[in-house]
Amino acid sequence: MTTVAVKEEWKSGTQLTLSDYNSWYAASVNDPEGFWREHGKRLDWIKPYTKVKNTSFAPGNVSIKWFEDGTLNLSANCLDRHLTERGDQTAILWEGDNPEESRAISYKELHGDVCRMANVLKDLGVGRGERVSIYMPMIPEAAVAMLACARIGAVHSVVFGGFSPDALAGRMEGSGSKVLVTADEGLRAGRKVPLKANADKAVEIAAKAGHTVEKVLVVKRTGGEIAWAEGRDHWWHEARERVSAECEPEEMSAEDPLFILYTSGSTGKPKGVLHTTGGYLVWASMTQQYVFDMRAGEVFWCTADVGWVTGHSYTVYGPLANGGTTLMFEGVPNYPDAGRFWQVVDKHSVNVIYTAPTAIRALMGAGDEFVTKSSRRSLRLLGSVGEPINPEAWNWYYRVVGEERCPIVDTWWQTETGGILITPLPGAIDLKPGSATRPFFGVKPELVDGEGKVLEGATEGNLCITDSWPGQMRTVFGDHERFEQTYFSTYPNKYFTGDGARRDADGYWWITGRVDDVINVSGHRMGTAEVESALVSHPKVSEAAVVGYPHDVKGQGIYCYVTLMEGETPSEELKKELVAHVRGEIGPIASPDKIQFSPGLPKTRSGKIMRRILRKIAEDDFGALGDTSTLADPAVVDDLIDNRQNRK
Ligand code: WT7
Repeated sequence: MTTVAVKEEWKSGTQLTLSDYNSWYAASVNDPEGFWREHGKRLDWIKPYTKVKNTSFAPGNVSIKWFEDGTLNLSANCLDRHLTERGDQTAILWEGDNPEESRAISYKELHGDVCRMANVLKDLGVGRGERVSIYMPMIPEAAVAMLACARIGAVHSVVFGGFSPDALAGRMEGSGSKVLVTADEGLRAGRKVPLKANADKAVEIAAKAGHTVEKVLVVKRTGGEIAWAEGRDHWWHEARERVSAECEPEEMSAEDPLFILYTSGSTGKPKGVLHTTGGYLVWASMTQQYVFDMRAGEVFWCTADVGWVTGHSYTVYGPLANGGTTLMFEGVPNYPDAGRFWQVVDKHSVNVIYTAPTAIRALMGAGDEFVTKSSRRSLRLLGSVGEPINPEAWNWYYRVVGEERCPIVDTWWQTETGGILITPLPGAIDLKPGSATRPFFGVKPELVDGEGKVLEGATEGNLCITDSWPGQMRTVFGDHERFEQTYFSTYPNKYFTGDGARRDADGYWWITGRVDDVINVSGHRMGTAEVESALVSHPKVSEAAVVGYPHDVKGQGIYCYVTLMEGETPSEELKKELVAHVRGEIGPIASPDKIQFSPGLPKTRSGKIMRRILRKIAEDDFGALGDTSTLADPAVVDDLIDNRQNRK
């Protein structure tokens, strides 16, 4: 499909025009200091900053500071400053898994809840700078817990509720969280998720590794039966009655840590991505305002779980900092049926929906009737995030869901970037299906080849960003060297994203996908190394290699080559056992889609697994294996091909 030009009706008094975009962008890259000095003022500062940008990508000395001498409190920016003007406006509109259940929480109420939770956390011994893990379903108390941490200067580490006890334990240990906030059970598609039971196991696993979780605050969601550790566990609904509904916000430095969020990389265990307070909130709020053409009184719905960065920046912080109404959805797109998203849109008159291509593809597969029987008149803008959106899905989203009335913003960014970096501005930039279009203010993308040579003009290469922006991550929690190593060592003086991209003749950016060993499964990032280490932790497995392959709905599926220990026999039973094992180690999102038992893996003479070959076989594209002459034993390839699990 060709370019979709900006329509007259997409332009609004609140949105920037193309010429605004061009002049703001030029100002932001020519004079970042001046540009951000101005735009940093969108927040309420306790002590205004005088310094704006102090950043270096230099090898051995990567250091990122924004607004460093300013002080503020993030929760005050999301709550207190709205109370006089819109205290009674709905801040969080919550839609339950069950279509009969919903709640509207005003800014006043949210402020009270956050203050109470902040006081409870203090009573549980949480102080400034200390970490709190949050393992919650999609209920308002998840946002309350995040904001409560911010209020008292504690650092939250939200762990997605779909992660296993092992994964939660590793993250509590890694972040050094002494307090955990969780719920009795979650509810998804009518099924219960045993969060407290998982949390109990996780606390036990962490204890064995020498880390003590001292207090667990439990929100009652379903009222289901749970175990209770007297002295350690506390009910939120009881504790909140014992504390005041006022809590003075802590005065924090702009560079004080706000949160840690674990994310997968190409090697090793997940990294604790650390974001700080001032720059992050400037970025989250400013992108939310301009990318979604935020208008007063509207309902904004980002479908992401708060366990992911999208949920942090666009379900919670961005919309609340801007005084918006954010919709928080507990359920899933296809429960009770594939029309749920559009029922929710009609029920709450949603104006902007921001979701992932994997959801769009799944709903597209269910048939148009689920969409067309809803009105969707309230919608004026559609967003996409998490993975490249294929033109077919883009087209369906545009024509069937939006009836060609609504622009689509395809937004590219990462956990590390804090918020959106490449995106259209809906009333300003012509759209091209599959392209994230243009950089946001202050973002300087660049393409380089494998050797780091800068590529000019219309071409394809590895995507780097050459200068810092306020929302950028500051470090890997507890391991600054890993931060430098991961993002700044491949191409010195540049931030390397791990993505490949193409720039076309109009200067539009097209993200082509990861160029490292990270795969993207249903918009969730997964390190192949993590799945491999989960597999080899099974007693019957001697070696494993994991690659991604194209999957119609998930984007990428997880394909595992498994070599068994001497004497073990391959069987369908064992495959099931291995799938269950990986789910137990990481969580259901890491479920292998295909397992191939392979007596040998293709290795070079120096013992390096040739993943290129494994990827090709997983794609059922073994005609193009390329050079296999450097393999130690070329015969293993024939066996792999004969027994491939993905025959078309
Ligand atoms: C990776 C980051 C950003 C929030 C959700 C995922 C891929 C993200 C797009 C897009 C093409 C995209 C990239 C990126 N990605 N958005 N619009 N088009 N690819 O955050 O888990 O940190 O994953 O998601 O590969 O590197 P994340």
